[in-house]
Amino acid sequence: MAQLAAARGTADVVLIDIVEGLPQGKALDIAESAPWAGFSTSIVGTNDWAATAGSDVVVITSGVPRRPGMTREDLLGTNAGIVRSVVTNAVRHSPDCVLVIFANPMDAMCHVALEASGFAKERVIGQGGMLDSARYRTFIAMETGASVRDVAAWVLGGHTEATMVPIVSNASVGGVPLTQLVRPKPLAALVERTKRGGAEIVGLLKTGSAFIAPAVATLEMVDAILFDEQRILPCCTLLGGQWDVRNAYVGAPVLLGAGGVQKVYTPPLAEDEVAAIRAAGKAVRELVAATPKA
Ligand code: 2OP
Repeated sequence: MAQLAAARGTADVVLIDIVEGLPQGKALDIAESAPWAGFSTSIVGTNDWAATAGSDVVVITSGVPRRPGMTREDLLGTNAGIVRSVVTNAVRHSPDCVLVIFANPMDAMCHVALEASGFAKERVIGQGGMLDSARYRTFIAMETGASVRDVAAWVLGGHTEATMVPIVSNASVGGVPLTQLVRPKPLAALVERTKRGGAEIVGLLKTGSAFIAPAVATLEMVDAILFDEQRILPCCTLLGGQWDVRNAYVGAPVLLGAGGVQKVYTPPLAEDEVAAIRAAGKAVRELVAATPKA
């Protein structure tokens, strides 16, 4: 993500980790690609939070990734402690930042970050729907043979296999409803593949989870916030009654711009999709209740 962020040329990047030498080495390597890659943004690596001071956006990727056979929920205890401490340090040095949370289980980690930061909910946003929607769109393009650029399809709900809600009712390719293009059986298969998209990569890589698609998905959010782009994107946000979900971080279409989430939309969905979004809200509340306290 740091490499792609630097190469986009849209933001200066500070890469921070607790391992001495690791962020410095990665950042130097990326910086040394700039002369040929042709970007002039700055990238530095550090173990010192002071170097991150005044950041506009802080992306929290910290925490352990899954290993084959693990669910995102298995990471709850370990990653809650890491996210709490990282967020506390981040906001101490960047009190006006927007936090983009990407540590897993992401939906529950948003609650940890909201509490640890003391920020308004608009400034604590989870990345999950962006990646899951990218996977959904990719699989739709593979199935239909159409260009992925013409696929409009969103994944709402949670960022776990059990709670992800790939929306079929309003998915389309070039304005043609997805249900007209793909028969029920292959459609059900690609919806299932979307839900297991993260595990598919973990199963193939074995020693880590996905890198590139999550990075690009997150950077689209970062740019929307930095440049007040007014994008409408599927992001994880604290719902306050939408679809009757209250006080739970759930993926929904949001207006994303300066300061983070500016509005949450509730487009018309099929009844089973709304029910699945409500179930996602309930599951997140249960994970929050099970999260070890500080
Ligand atoms: C994924 O879905 C890591 O949760 C992330 O690949």
